[in-house]
Amino acid sequence: MQAVILVGGLGTRLRPLTCNTPKPMLPVANRPFIDHVFSLLKRHGITEIILAIQYLSEAFEKFYGDGSQFGLELTYVHEKEPLGTAGAVKNVQQYLNGTFLVFNGDVLTDLDLTALIRFHTEKESKLTISLVPVEDPTAYGLVELDESRRVQRFLEKPRWEDVTSNLINAGTYVIEPDVFRYVPPAQFYMFERGLFPVLLQTGDPMFGFPSNAYWMDIGTPEKYLEVHHDLLMGKIGDNFPGQEIGPRVWMGEKTEVDPSARLMGPAIIGSKCLIEPGVKITGPVVIGNNCVVGADATIEDAVIWDNVRVGAQSALRNCVMAGNSEVGQGATIGGGTVIADNCSIGDGNKLEKGIRIWPGVSIPANAITF
Ligand code: GTP
Repeated sequence: MQAVILVGGLGTRLRPLTCNTPKPMLPVANRPFIDHVFSLLKRHGITEIILAIQYLSEAFEKFYGDGSQFGLELTYVHEKEPLGTAGAVKNVQQYLNGTFLVFNGDVLTDLDLTALIRFHTEKESKLTISLVPVEDPTAYGLVELDESRRVQRFLEKPRWEDVTSNLINAGTYVIEPDVFRYVPPAQFYMFERGLFPVLLQTGDPMFGFPSNAYWMDIGTPEKYLEVHHDLLMGKIGDNFPGQEIGPRVWMGEKTEVDPSARLMGPAIIGSKCLIEPGVKITGPVVIGNNCVVGADATIEDAVIWDNVRVGAQSALRNCVMAGNSEVGQGATIGGGTVIADNCSIGDGNKLEKGIRIWPGVSIPANAITF
């Protein structure tokens, strides 16, 4: 079976991390996020993958090429303008050869794809939506099913008294290509507001597949950090790069850790890093390749990409630092702060309260200290 992965979104909620990197290529546990999606597909025997690309499209092909080195057969289909989720699938129609899977390229899940596909076939469904339960149904668009699990209705953020379902769309579908006759070509068109209501009207069988699989998108900085927590805590099975040198602490090759540094997992440290004397790392933490953490710095609940320098005595907590950036000495970075790539944060600055620093910004020493 083929899978179409939608990877063309702008990722506006994750800016500035997505200014120079498309959301599905952001590093997650030191691998491009989409690699985790590829792993799931491969576990279920799916290697023929069509990537619907648009925003910063060259990043995918540059890294993965034709996919053969990764055990994949990749086809890239570019949209001139963003076509929305269903419009993007319509745009790849000519490459499809039968029933296929659609994935949002920003969702981490361990969904049983084999069971989903079997369910779709048994029900003779035209379009099957994977569903996950949520605690507060009033905050989401819900999907109401009948006893046979056929979709009856879509409810957008209902009041508590109108709640009849706690299931939301998890963004993974199994689809018969012929339903795309309802989707206009070369136009912006969405599954939720376009194709799904049309299929309810036409009476084409559309089913929901509820499961308690792990499910989380990386759509915001908070969720990006949360996905790291869950991966590192083992909530969803994964292999991490490097060797496990302590309880849930993985380290890459040629990384040097001073004996006086304390590493408390879960943590992943990339290769060719230098962790200087007195450093304290308290997981969940991910540090990329070629990073230097200066003496007596502390890092807790943070994700740091490749080629980052953290100055001596700095404290990083609950933050993301993108690649090729540096923080000077004695700085404090916390409270959900996001620092984009190629930034320089001078000595002594205190960045808190979810502040977002755009790519290439330099902040002089002691400029922000409130
Ligand atoms: P936000 O701007 O923060 O909402 O992010 P986004 O642009 O990624 O949108 P959203 O999170 O709703 O997208 C879900 C998935 O669909 C992501 O993997 C996107 O890359 C993808 N996607 C969204 N819109 C398009 C589109 O117009 N074309 C293609 N090819 N993919 C899309």
